[in-house]
Amino acid sequence: MDQLLQQIEAVKAEIAATVATTHEEVENYRIKYLGTKGLVKQIMGEMKNVPNEQKKEFGQILNAFKVVAEEKLAEIQAGLGEGAEASSNIDFTLPGDTVPVGTRHPLNLVRNQMVSIFKRLGFAVAEGPEVEDDWHNFGAMNLPADHPARDMQDTFYVQEATETESAWLLRTHTSSVQARVMETQKPPIRVICPGRVYRNETISARAHCFFHQVEGLYIDENVSFADLKQTLYFFVQEMFGKEVKVRFRPSYFPFTEPSAEMDISCQICAGKGCNICKHTGWVEILGSGMVHPKVLENFGIDPEKYTGFAFGMGVERIAQLKYQVNDLRLYSQNDLRFLQQFKSV
Ligand code: DAH
Repeated sequence: MDQLLQQIEAVKAEIAATVATTHEEVENYRIKYLGTKGLVKQIMGEMKNVPNEQKKEFGQILNAFKVVAEEKLAEIQAGLGEGAEASSNIDFTLPGDTVPVGTRHPLNLVRNQMVSIFKRLGFAVAEGPEVEDDWHNFGAMNLPADHPARDMQDTFYVQEATETESAWLLRTHTSSVQARVMETQKPPIRVICPGRVYRNETISARAHCFFHQVEGLYIDENVSFADLKQTLYFFVQEMFGKEVKVRFRPSYFPFTEPSAEMDISCQICAGKGCNICKHTGWVEILGSGMVHPKVLENFGIDPEKYTGFAFGMGVERIAQLKYQVNDLRLYSQNDLRFLQQFKSV
């Protein structure tokens, strides 16, 4: 029996020393040790010569030996990168399970594009609260309590003013963030403020009780109306392409003087005339102007030393012109058929 034990040890050493780096070598190993006429089988065959009283002990030794030979086979197969394939019945040629991937909301896509264009001009992003007090939304922006311009925006009040407390409301425009920024920063100031705003409007294809704006504010020495025009012209060219035309129309906002609205050539009909541009070939996309001296003074900024421009535009309007979305309600209905059209944008 000693002889058999010695043989097992010798074969084990041989197995341990085996190196197999090709399919052929692995197969040769398998045939030599684990094939039907292989060494493991042969040595197992010796069991019949083992005396009965040693059979149990030898059985264990032989089984351990077989495991060593099998483990080596798995090891060299794995070395070829095929171990898993050979030792399981997974079909690696089957296509994988598809993981459903969501899409970005069109308004977020457009907002991100807007932000990245202004960032390239050196504007930083500023944010403010959606629930505002009267001062930041109206008062500071030169819209005192009895100012008729407040009629322009139907406001959702969260809490009416009391003798001691100001009113709280859902902000009606992102101009409130201008106030927040001027309160905490000194010129030069160059920010854009994207965010959601609320107005008490009946929901229809053309109006909604909430929508999104991007506000811009630039205050420094010697900022002129020419800077405003050039900044906005750069923006629309980046957003809509070099062919886009712009025009400025005089307008009125309490927080800017002078004020202007900017139109661009209709992106739907290329200026020929359609429903969106009401057959004029032009669509209004934003309000703007030079920051009113009173607004600067409200925040201790000297209007003799500093000037600035501001603008505000609707994200939905820009998205409408870019993607020809004609019903505002689509943006908030969560209809996958609508949303998935923006997959590859
Ligand atoms: N706040 C205005 C609105 O909601 C838009 C606007 C106009 C913002 C002129 C401005 C501005 O900053 O200068 O209709």
